[in-house]
Amino acid sequence: EHLPALLRAMPKAELHMHIEGSLEPELIFALAERNGVQLPYADVEALRAAYAFTDLQSFLDIYYAGASVLLHEQDFYDMARAYLNRAVADNVVHTEIFFDPQTHTARGVGMETVINGLYRACRDAEIEQGISASLILSFLRHLSEEEALQTLEDALPLRDRFIGVGLDSSEVGNPPEKFARVFGRCRELGLHLVAHAGEEGPPAYIWGALDVLHVERIDHGVQAEKDPVLMQRLVDEQIPLTVCPLSNLKLCVVDSLAAHNLPQLLKAGLKVTVNSDDPAYFGGYVNENYLQLFEATGMGAQEAYQLARNSLEASFVAAAQKEQWI
Ligand code: ADE
Ligand code: ZN
Repeated sequence: EHLPALLRAMPKAELHMHIEGSLEPELIFALAERNGVQLPYADVEALRAAYAFTDLQSFLDIYYAGASVLLHEQDFYDMARAYLNRAVADNVVHTEIFFDPQTHTARGVGMETVINGLYRACRDAEIEQGISASLILSFLRHLSEEEALQTLEDALPLRDRFIGVGLDSSEVGNPPEKFARVFGRCRELGLHLVAHAGEEGPPAYIWGALDVLHVERIDHGVQAEKDPVLMQRLVDEQIPLTVCPLSNLKLCVVDSLAAHNLPQLLKAGLKVTVNSDDPAYFGGYVNENYLQLFEATGMGAQEAYQLARNSLEASFVAAAQKEQWI
């Protein structure tokens, strides 16, 4: 069969992945050892056995615990280089990487430690491997807007090292409107804007992300299907959706990949993309997301090309660079 080979080989962009979600259990334990951090799991197998999620929050609790081993600039560098190596192997030509600074600054890690380690990894991968990589600072929505504003202030001396901001963590109960002021400030600063919306939360959160936060892309967005007026808006404005099939499966957003609505969203004319979200936790990097989704849904080569093209078009790279790829 040619389709798996096509899915693997086609040049693609990854627009929705959290770098802390690329920490493999082996690297978590290696960093714990290197840094003298005590983990509440005996070994790699015990940690992996805990990866049985029932919803977003059950995942986030373990994901934040895993990130506790990151202390020094070299730790952030090593984590990002490991992900970028995997991305290169999957023929990702461009990636836009989320990072959660508040997960680290709350433990006393400096903002410059986080950003400089990640940024150096991106630059070295570009030079040595030819992949293009950018960073998106993501605010934790379970924390207050004041804390997000402070995080932005702390990051502004390094403004040239990230291209935009996002909004992640516990969605339900933390609507986009809670972050109207900090996103307004980021907009004035000329940063790109994205937000997780409609992963577990209702279509109203997607409306809020668009109309109150003025985001350029919606991360997940799979709940849009419940609102025909919203669907038409997303089609008319060609707002990209960064969908993460294996994430949706592992966090029980869908019952099976065969039941995933990505084919319907694509067919309806939405600008859908395929992404890995937290590949070390959800059982696969971006190509594995394509392979398992196509196997389960019966989509073909035409949909494959469309999704890859969408990913490049929906990226924040300059138009001239896009033309080289498309
Ligand atoms: N942080 C990491 N992965 C996430 C997801 N899928 N949803 C919300 N926040 C996240
Ligand atoms: Zn995500």
